[in-house]
Parts: sequence; C-alpha cells; structure tokens
Amino acid sequence: MPIIAPSLLSANYLNLEADCKMLNESEADWYHLDVMDGRFVPNISLGPMLVEFFRKATAKVCDVHLMIEEPGNFAEQFKNAGADNLSVHIEACPHLHRNIQQIKALGMKAGVAVNPHTPVSDLSDILHDIDLVCLMSVNPGFGGQKFIPYTIDKIRQLRKMIDERGLQVHIEIDGGVTVENAASIIASGADVLVAGNTVFKSADPTSTIAQLKKL
Ligand code: DX5
Ligand code: ZN
Repeated sequence: MPIIAPSLLSANYLNLEADCKMLNESEADWYHLDVMDGRFVPNISLGPMLVEFFRKATAKVCDVHLMIEEPGNFAEQFKNAGADNLSVHIEACPHLHRNIQQIKALGMKAGVAVNPHTPVSDLSDILHDIDLVCLMSVNPGFGGQKFIPYTIDKIRQLRKMIDERGLQVHIEIDGGVTVENAASIIASGADVLVAGNTVFKSADPTSTIAQLKKL
C-alpha cells in the first residue's frame, strides 16, 4: 500500500483545524508541507512557524519539502519546528552531500527533490545517503498543475537504481497526482503519493484518501 501524503498547500487556511482533523482521522500517512521562498520558485508559501502549528496538530509524519535556496541555513529551524522528513532540491544545493549530512545529524530523514528536467542519474552518488527522493511531476511552485507524463519513465529508472543497489529509499511523486493516474504511478515503482488538489478539492477528501490508499 502506498504512503499517502496530502499537501497542505491546497488546504483551507481559514479553517485549518477542520482540515487537520479530517487528515488525522483519515488514512493519510504524512502531512506534506511545501516551503517556498519566492526565489528558488516563483511563489511564497509557509515557513517554520506554520510547520510548528502543524506539528502540534498531528501525530502523523511531517514531511517538509523545501523549495528554497541555501536550505542549509534553515535546516535547524525546521527540525526545531518539528519536521520529521526534510527534502532539499538538488538544483539548489551545490554542496548537496553536506546538506544531507546536516539533515541526518539533526535527526531527520533526508530527502532530495528533483525538478522535471533533472535526470534521475544525477542522484547516483547520493542515493545511498538518503531516505527519500521527491520526484517532481510538475514544475514546483504551485498546486493544481497537470502531471508531466515523462515522470513515469523517471520513476522506472529510479526504482531500478534503488533495487539494483538493495537500498530502502522512498520514491515520492509530487504534483498532479489524481485518482486516475495514481495506479500507473505506483505500478512504475513509486511508494509515496503527494496529493494537494486531488484531496482538498474533492467533494469527500476522506474517501479520496482512502481510494488512493487502496492502490
Ligand atoms: C508544488 C508542490 C506540491 C503541490 C502539489 O510545488 O511541491 O506539493 O502542493 O499539489 P497538487 O497535488 O495539487 O499538484
Ligand atoms: Zn511538495
């Protein structure tokens, strides 16, 4: 069964308590929290302060996706805010190995996120150091975009790299995941589904989560 990670970017910020309650009572596994700085991506979203609120609102895993430049400057703040997983973008990290070691030394699971144009082969020499690859299936910055079909090939390539080396690294797919395309995403080798609009814009978010979980 896949890990389901609803993205709170699409939640109702006028009524977050209700959305958190819904998630806590649902089959969702992780809270996916998108951090944007207006520099690495053309949008600004939440920061450590809101992560801390979400941490208090749930016992589920807080999966923090940093879409920011120089993420090393903020790793400790996100740890203190309660992040369990911290993912940084390969494109934002000239010293990725150092960033990963820092995240692990702080006691968090370490993830590397990759943009649609970045080949998964670029992960070759970091794969054995990380817990999670966040494969972007849209260009990061906004919820509600359309899934880029070539991602399916990238999932297959990455699954092969991980299995050939006998590693336990999650493949998380982020962007444009729907109830319709989720089965082929899982069949290609992914095991974590991020879903923003699909969950929060659905008429019945709890049953949408259950549908994704059943795949
Ligand atoms: C996009 C974010 C995603 C986003 C996904 O930059 O990283 O996590 O919230 O939203 P949907 O599922 O609506 O594409
Ligand atoms: Zn994300």
